[in-house]
Amino acid sequence: LPVASFDCVVFGATGDLTMRKLLAALYHRYRDRQFPDTSRIIAAARSGLETEGFRLRAEAALRQHVSPANLDEETLGAFLALIHYRQVDALSDEGWEALVATLDERPGQVRPFYLATSPELYGPICQRLARHGGFNALSRVVLEKPIGHDLASARAINKAVGEVLPESQIFRIDHYLGKETVQNLLALRFANPIFERLWNADVIDHVQITVSEVVGAEGRAGYYDRSGALRDMVQNHMLQLLCLLAMESPLSLDTDAVRDEKLKVLRALRRFEPHEVNNFTVRGQYVAGAAEGRPVPGYLADIGSTERSMTETFVALKAQVNSWRWAGVPFYLRTGKRLPRKMSEIVVQFRTPPFSVFPRDQHDLQPNRLLIRLQPEEGMRLEMMTKEPGPGGLHLRPTGLDISFEKTFGQHYPDAYERLLMDVVRGNTTLFMRRDEVEAAWDWVEPVLHAWAERPEAPRPYVAGTWGPTAAIAMIERDGRTWYEGIE
Ligand code: BG6
Repeated sequence: LPVASFDCVVFGATGDLTMRKLLAALYHRYRDRQFPDTSRIIAAARSGLETEGFRLRAEAALRQHVSPANLDEETLGAFLALIHYRQVDALSDEGWEALVATLDERPGQVRPFYLATSPELYGPICQRLARHGGFNALSRVVLEKPIGHDLASARAINKAVGEVLPESQIFRIDHYLGKETVQNLLALRFANPIFERLWNADVIDHVQITVSEVVGAEGRAGYYDRSGALRDMVQNHMLQLLCLLAMESPLSLDTDAVRDEKLKVLRALRRFEPHEVNNFTVRGQYVAGAAEGRPVPGYLADIGSTERSMTETFVALKAQVNSWRWAGVPFYLRTGKRLPRKMSEIVVQFRTPPFSVFPRDQHDLQPNRLLIRLQPEEGMRLEMMTKEPGPGGLHLRPTGLDISFEKTFGQHYPDAYERLLMDVVRGNTTLFMRRDEVEAAWDWVEPVLHAWAERPEAPRPYVAGTWGPTAAIAMIERDGRTWYEGIE
């Protein structure tokens, strides 16, 4: 769909997210001719920079984060020329008039305001924009996750922003929802009746969601040490994946129809009682070890601290959706930094055959599994038992029906941020989190946050380059199941 001309204002323009992701995403969209003629990027931050100085920083960031094949000098120069810098202070009135005057040069343009700042500033920035007349009818604010630090702060932010803008103009971004495979979950489930018929506790034994990363917390210590893996990954990305897997069929693909169904899943999640948290969750923190074959320091060294930190860099938990469809089907979630591989994968494991006609001593029947891989190579695989070819008897072995998106469709797709930014310009909120969804997700994780905060012991150590504390393995093995280590 074509987009209208826009003035994209990025607050927190000198920060990590802008430099690492947003500028590159905007550049790629510009290169793909998705910027109508009079569109501009207005970078706003507290630093006393001029437009020229900011363009130099932006250029350095783009040279680092865009692949050389996509970076031709002419396009880069033309893109940088669209960027203007305005100094503003979110906590004072300084700079706002000049910013609004710049916007008023083009009063009819779509105005996406991307708030790539700390969440405490979302309310103040929106309130100041409103007070200085920065919003037009085509304004949209984009709020980065995490929205707040807990339920109370999330509510306060939603309230402050909601006082100046209607919900249809508020885009709470969770970049996992912009990933190709995540949207493919909708196609998998609702365009393929063979799966939807099987999508329930009668046939499915359990579900696993793993989001593992090789990177540590280095470079983001300030943010990460205040968040930890539960707030950084589980409350948003992983619960969103769980919702798309577990939700009922929406009545349509309208924004609210899909979000209503996701909300029902969040509300159906069984809440942990304080005394259960220990049985159903494991938190870990990496110590020195290895990453991709080279030695790496532990978490405390990464954040430059000599004291102990209670922040978890790994979480495993066992969730349960209280509904007819899912009763008795555990959803095991795990995520961590400094794990052996970068991988985001969903495993839907079906029940084992109730009875085997094959002699037991020859082979163990493996359960069918549907593997949905978000990254690195997006794809799906259905694991099935097949007969090994040849005359030597009836030997079975698991093999897979595979779909690799790259091999099948063979082209580049916009990355998650690119796609979501263009949805903002178009005003489509379907892939963004609604206020009640964000609050329901906080509401569910809060008993875990409280129980952990009250416990005196630090997260369990695990060696960098391993799959987290052994307690995470024990948690699933107690149920007679094992973590799946990914498609090889
Ligand atoms: C971000 C988290 O939201 O997602 C990061 O703040 C994490 O800590 C990142 O590294 C992972 O995203 P992706 O797209 O690389 O899986």
